[in-house]
Amino acid sequence: MKQLMIDRTEAFVKKQLVNDSSGHDWYHIYRVKQLAENIAEQEKADRFICIMAALLHDLADEKIAGSEEKGLADVKQWLQSIHVDNEDLINILSIISTMSFKGGNQSPMTTIEGQVVQDADRLDAVGAIGIGRTFAYSGAKGQLMYDPEIPVRETMSKDEYRNQKSTAVNHFYEKLLKLKDYMNTSYAKQLAEERHNFLKQFLDQFFSEWEGKK
Ligand code: ADP
Ligand code: NI
Repeated sequence: MKQLMIDRTEAFVKKQLVNDSSGHDWYHIYRVKQLAENIAEQEKADRFICIMAALLHDLADEKIAGSEEKGLADVKQWLQSIHVDNEDLINILSIISTMSFKGGNQSPMTTIEGQVVQDADRLDAVGAIGIGRTFAYSGAKGQLMYDPEIPVRETMSKDEYRNQKSTAVNHFYEKLLKLKDYMNTSYAKQLAEERHNFLKQFLDQFFSEWEGKK
């Protein structure tokens, strides 16, 4: 029964995101779902809630739905249409709304399932995949991959920040290298540590090649 709800939700989300180019494409959702399932198993969290919230987590993003409110209302309607229990529905919606909350990078999750899905989403921004996403995003925005004359921006919240130029490599210092310290669960911390070390190794190699070494 629950597996059928998962399968139907997977098809529903895939149909909506398959042509997305804002960094929230279907395969981001696929990876977050895989991670959420694996972390949920290790952390003994509810598998159904974690997978459903992972699948639906980006549909309330304003870049996709137009507004967060509309996105959440559409998700609620979907969950009702496939007859998800009311208690599960409330839990899933609460995770998604906390995750999509702006500045939500730091919003604390109150349930283990919320912690698992937030960790899964953050893990997809680091490691080899995180590197790939960052360069793809930068290219799409017309940013250089690196420019030694563009300084790393210091804060994440101010409006000026958004208007300042950046590069793919700067984004490592502005966000990616910080993510490891924001993991909630111990299994995600372990995965984040490995992915973090991979980022550092990549940067070492990048800068030595930049100077024509190695
Ligand atoms: P999410 O909503 O999944 O947390 P974002 O929309 O912030 O992700 O970003 C999508 C992807 O693009 C992520 O992998 C992120 O690291 C990358 N990205 C976001 N902002 C920038 C930026 N200014 N420069 C380079 N990459 C970025
Ligand atoms: Ni996401």
